[in-house]
Formats: sequence, C-alpha cells, structure tokens
Amino acid sequence: MWNFHKWFERHSLILVVGILLVVSIGGLVQITPLFFIESTIEEVKGVRPYTPLELKGRQIYVREGCYTCHSQMIRPLRDEVERYGHYSLAAESMYDHPFQWGSKRTGPDLARVGGRYSDEWHRAHLVDPRSTVPESVMPPYAFLEAKDLRTDDIGNHLRTNAMLKVPYAKDQIENAEADLRAQADPNSDGAGAFEERYPTVKARDYDGNTARLTEMDALIAYLQMLGAGVDFSTYQADAPENQR
Ligand code: HEC
Repeated sequence: MWNFHKWFERHSLILVVGILLVVSIGGLVQITPLFFIESTIEEVKGVRPYTPLELKGRQIYVREGCYTCHSQMIRPLRDEVERYGHYSLAAESMYDHPFQWGSKRTGPDLARVGGRYSDEWHRAHLVDPRSTVPESVMPPYAFLEAKDLRTDDIGNHLRTNAMLKVPYAKDQIENAEADLRAQADPNSDGAGAFEERYPTVKARDYDGNTARLTEMDALIAYLQMLGAGVDFSTYQADAPENQR
C-alpha cells in the first residue's frame, strides 16, 4: 500500500492525472444537479415583478451608474444587518436583469432603502444631496426632474423581461404604457385599473408634480420599493409558502 503511494508521489505526471480525476469527480457532484433543476432560487412571499414605472426607474439607475457607488446586497454579517436590516435573499433579486449586488460602497447599500425616507426627501436629496446630508459626496441629479420620461418603449421592455421568465401577465404587457402613466397619477382614470393589475402597489405622485411625468418620478418609485416587498416580521425561511 505505502509502496504504491510512494510510486504515485514520485511520478509527477501520474500525480497530476490523479488530482485531475479526483477534482473532476468533486466538480461533477456539484455541477450535474444544476442541469436537472429548474431554478436554485427559493421563491419568497412578497417578491413581485417591477411595475412599468419602477422598471423605468431601474433603467435610469443603471444608466446613471448609481451602482458604481451603491451596492444592493446586505451580507449576513452582524454589522450589515444592524445597519441595513435583514440580509438580502436570493429571491429579492430574482427579477433583476441584470442584478445590482456589487461590492463598491462609496455610499450606503440601497437594498432596503425603500420606505426609509419620504418621496420628498428623495427628491430633495437627488436634486442636491448636500441639502439633506451636508457632508455628502454624492453628485446631484437635478436634471432628472426636467426630463420627460420616455413611455413608448415600455411594452417591449416588459416583453423582454417576460422572455427572461419574469412572470408578466398578458394584460400587464398590453397595458404597460397606460400603467406607467397611471402609477404616478393617482387621480387619473387609469389608476384603478393599474392597482387591479398590481394589487400590492398604490398609485401616487412621486415628484410633487402630477402635471408632468419625469425621470425623477420613475427613479423615486424604484427606490421606494427596494427591499420593501418581504415582510420580515413574519418571514420564516422554512415556511410552506416559501418552499417550492
Ligand atoms: C460618487 C458616488 C455616488 C453616486 C454615483 C451616487 N451616490 Fe448615492 N450616495 C453616495 C453617498 C456618499 C451617500 C451618503 C451620503 C448621502 O446620503 O448623500 C449616498 C446616499 C444615497 C442615498 C441615501 C441612502 C441612505 O440609506 O441614507 C440614496 C437613496 C442614494 N444615494 C441614491 C443614489 C442614486 C439613485 C444614484 C444614481 C442616480 C446615486 N445615489 C449615485 C454616493 C453616490
């Protein structure tokens, strides 16, 4: 037995072949099951696809490079959980294409910023970050308030997300443009139909000006829903509704 081992160790080529063999068995054991299961993400109650307005806001977030300073993933470490709230669940970014996890934090993590501040706070902060946080190094984004939101392409964006398995219903795709406008205009005719299609969302004006639908509306709508879907006062990882 020991002689065999000696022989093995003295012939480097045989040793390399042996190592490759053992490593590939280990690799196969881990990788093969992934080809046979549909998804590795456990669904969690409260996580829903983005509304058209939020999806637009998300695109502005990506376009403006907010992710170069902000991550959206709370690690399961005590200091992070105490500062930001419950650690991020995989399901919370299952409808993100692409995800915004990141590790660069010039500013705070934004995974649970939704509902932490008022819409008005966000508007003031985005227009001039120094007006709410005097020592802030975040650049101002006042121009978002002056830019009308493009709405004609939103149906295609929902359709593309549906191709990536985001479960948008047919009528959500067909009414995407109407829903986009209605969410930011609570008194409009379409607001009721919008709330029926997205039952957990209430239409409201985000930027303090219903007369105009701007990129600011969309960005604030997006920020205000980040991490706010799952109710962590009752969340249990092994509850039946969180199991496939
Ligand atoms: C150059 C880096 C930088 C960029 C780019 C940047 N931020 Fe920030 N952000 C910061 C810093 C630093 C803070 C902390 C100080 C403050 O609140 O202004 C911050 C704070 C925030 C906060 C408050 C978070 C909290 O929990 O208090 C929000 C919301 C936010 N940023 C959103 C955005 C959005 C949206 C964009 C893109 C349009 C963006 N930021 C781009 C650096 C940045």
